[in-house]
Amino acid sequence: MDAPPAPAGMASKAGARTQETAALDALFYQAADEFFPKQAPTALTYDDVTLATLFSEVLPRETKLDTALSESLHLPMPIVSSDMDTVTESGMAIGMALNGGLGLIHYNMSERHQVREVERVKHHIHGLIQDPILVKPEQTIGQVLEHVEQKRFSFRTFPVVDGQGVLIGLLSGRLVKERYRTKTVAEAMTPRKEVYTIQQKDLGPNPIAAADKFFSEHLGIHKLLVVDELDHLRGLFTLSDIERITDEARANVKPARDERFHLLCGAAVSAPRTTTGDLDRDRLVNHVGALVQAGVDAVAISTAHGHTTGVGDCVRLLREQFRDLTLIAGNVTSAAGVAFLAEAGASAIKVGQGPGSICTTRIVAGVGIPQLTALYVAAKEARRRGVRIIADGGITKSGDIVKALTLADAVILGGLLAGCREAPGQIVEIDGKFYKQYRGMGSLEAMRRGSAARYGHEKPGSGQKVKVAAEGIEALKEVAGSLDTVLGQLLGGVQSGLGYLGARNLAELRTKARYARVTTAGMREAAPHDVVEVKTTKA
Ligand code: XMP
Repeated sequence: MDAPPAPAGMASKAGARTQETAALDALFYQAADEFFPKQAPTALTYDDVTLATLFSEVLPRETKLDTALSESLHLPMPIVSSDMDTVTESGMAIGMALNGGLGLIHYNMSERHQVREVERVKHHIHGLIQDPILVKPEQTIGQVLEHVEQKRFSFRTFPVVDGQGVLIGLLSGRLVKERYRTKTVAEAMTPRKEVYTIQQKDLGPNPIAAADKFFSEHLGIHKLLVVDELDHLRGLFTLSDIERITDEARANVKPARDERFHLLCGAAVSAPRTTTGDLDRDRLVNHVGALVQAGVDAVAISTAHGHTTGVGDCVRLLREQFRDLTLIAGNVTSAAGVAFLAEAGASAIKVGQGPGSICTTRIVAGVGIPQLTALYVAAKEARRRGVRIIADGGITKSGDIVKALTLADAVILGGLLAGCREAPGQIVEIDGKFYKQYRGMGSLEAMRRGSAARYGHEKPGSGQKVKVAAEGIEALKEVAGSLDTVLGQLLGGVQSGLGYLGARNLAELRTKARYARVTTAGMREAAPHDVVEVKTTKA
């Protein structure tokens, strides 16, 4: 039975009380537009601030973390691995994409090498491998073995085609062995009539489902070749790829893939100079052209100071030449910097000067802005200009990611990922503990390897580094295990953060976030205290 309506006087009293309650919260826990301007000109970073809890009907596991870095580049989760030579090469980029994020391959390597690294990511797992490695009938098994060795292929089964690309057989991995070294591929291969194939036109709108059905119906068959009407080889499905893809669809983790099911991959570039100090336009366009050819999904023009003529020219040139490419540019910490790069044509802008765990820019140059204030200022301008922003550096725990995402579209992590197995770099043992090298791109050693241009310390056109003060240090990170585990922990924390704020997704997080200032005593209270810690959970 419905309760009788409350008398008018009671209703208005209850309404007034609700308003008072809301006003009390609003006084202490403020929205970004109220909170940050009131602190001016004091600039704040992650630990200076905490987020207020809000009424929630949302369980952490129900929250969605997908984001976009441009109109065309969507990511299932908002983490990007930093373009540093101790963080992101193809191994890290593959791991990031498999977990739904993006890796930015660093540029402390030759341009050709960087293109190859991007190719490795783009070819990592294919629903349909459109350019499988082929062998010729006249080759010997010995030659095939040498090729496998040289390219370090992890597979040994190859389609066999004639000079016109017509399928004539399949060389099974069982026969790619030393003992058959002198035999020819033609002698060893399974002949065409016994090879399982599917016509390209029969793949239908969902090729993965077609291949999945085939493998279920053909017991013990691991390869399905795709041919056209003239029997030209058009692709290859493998059972393991299909199983992985169908498992991913069921699992919580959604990999970041392009429309051809290739993993997403980004790469960083600097602004190359001619001997006269001008932007080397041809070199830049050729290099980015080769990256695009390799399938790169985003190019980041990465420098320590993005609000400069050089970076502006670079972004403008790339935007003219590659209209649809996602361009990330930076770094900046001001509204003017965001406006400048947005006008030049950047899709997403990196924010952060000196917050990184290995950075010394603020100490060496006396420059840089604590990260949360920088993000607030940049985000205000970015929303006006319709560009995205990425919080770069200074993130040491999952709670910082939640705070960053109240203002930014994604975060870049260096130190938190540098200890992972997937990061490049050697493991060293010190006193029974294992560490991985992690160094700033502005450290002397990294600049010697090529990143001097990022810090404006390269002699134009010469490739020679001039003598400079380093803006980064060389350090070690404790080995952190697999990227899957580290990201799992971080994303779990981020989802908890959204749950506490009753936010179903990142857009709701941005509108719902309410901030409060923290004192040193508050910070002490926030970490474990007054106990003897026996077990620490990292990340
Ligand atoms: P975290 O805190 O995640 O920071 O380790 C990674 C970010 O730091 C920037 N970076 C540098 N900044 N000197 C700097 O001032 C350096 O040598 C340096 N190296 C990297 C970069 O933005 C990276 O993503």
